[in-house]
Amino acid sequence: MTDNVKIFEVGPRDGLQNEKTQISTADKIALVDMLSDSGFSKIEVTSFVSPKWVPQMADAAQVMAGITRRDGVTYAVLTPNLKGLEGALEADADEVAIFASASEGFSQHNINCSIAESLERFAPVVAAAKAAGVPVRGYVSCVVECPYDGATPPESVAYVTKALADAGCYQISLGDTIGRATPEQVDAMLDAVLEEVPADKLAGHFHDTSGKAIANISASLARGLRCFDSSVAGLGGCPYAPGAAGNVATETVATYLMGQGFETGLDLTKLGEAARFAATLRTAS
Ligand code: HMG
Ligand code: MG
Repeated sequence: MTDNVKIFEVGPRDGLQNEKTQISTADKIALVDMLSDSGFSKIEVTSFVSPKWVPQMADAAQVMAGITRRDGVTYAVLTPNLKGLEGALEADADEVAIFASASEGFSQHNINCSIAESLERFAPVVAAAKAAGVPVRGYVSCVVECPYDGATPPESVAYVTKALADAGCYQISLGDTIGRATPEQVDAMLDAVLEEVPADKLAGHFHDTSGKAIANISASLARGLRCFDSSVAGLGGCPYAPGAAGNVATETVATYLMGQGFETGLDLTKLGEAARFAATLRTAS
């Protein structure tokens, strides 16, 4: 039997959030619609974050209102606090994500609070999302290295991952935010995390600054992970991780997984068209 691997497309959010020039709402909607046609079951569309912090995501509500929803596709958004969740629920998001960090420096720079404060802030967000029947995903950033604090101890990643699982996240995505991890480091990190949370509740989220994202996916597959985040055309980066490249390109991940005998459900021709369009948005900014 073919083993399935889910690719969680995060390009419209993680990819576009880092673009300096404002991309038109119409282009964002067009990109999501092309991705909806490419066979994804999960697309992260936008973020309900402070527009003072990430101006590119200021049109979150308009993007959500403009996309054409396709049956079987979950349209997810980021929600850092209750205000974000309110926006997400008004926009009828199918799924929301809270995002924590395994390092204090990134937590402060990205969401303006300590790790402990963030976990307190997320508790009512998860409760309200669940009350509304909306599943919550969690992110842990800087799972190997932090742009501010240096190397992240695997135990810190395990601690935050378990905290998000205990809080009620159905899945926790482990982010190599700066994209410089090696497969050996990923393996060591997973050693600690898998002591606390099983592989079927984890996803890998690899930025690709050093070109090792596919090797890191391979290391994660060997440890039982079956869900990976990626960005069409390798768009993006994080505004609070200077110098970090985009997520590994979805087309590269899909081709790699198919070569390894995994089923992804993606239509590579349509994905290629979406990637060519996504690349024009990047070049334009
Ligand atoms: P703060 O400044 O401490 O928040 O920011 P605040 O509560 O003091 O609010 C400041 C202003 O923002 C207020 O407006 C609020 O109303 C407004 P004012 O009264 O000054 O006019 N505000 C909001 N507006 C819209 N939506 C909201 C919202 N919240 C407050 N949800 C906060 C704290 C968390 C809000 C801020 O730090 C923030 O928005 N951070 C998000 C940063 C971000 O989006 N980073 C990128 C995503 S994470 C990532 O890329 C990593 C990931 O890909 C995994 C990986 O690669 O590792 C997930
Ligand atoms: Mg990211």
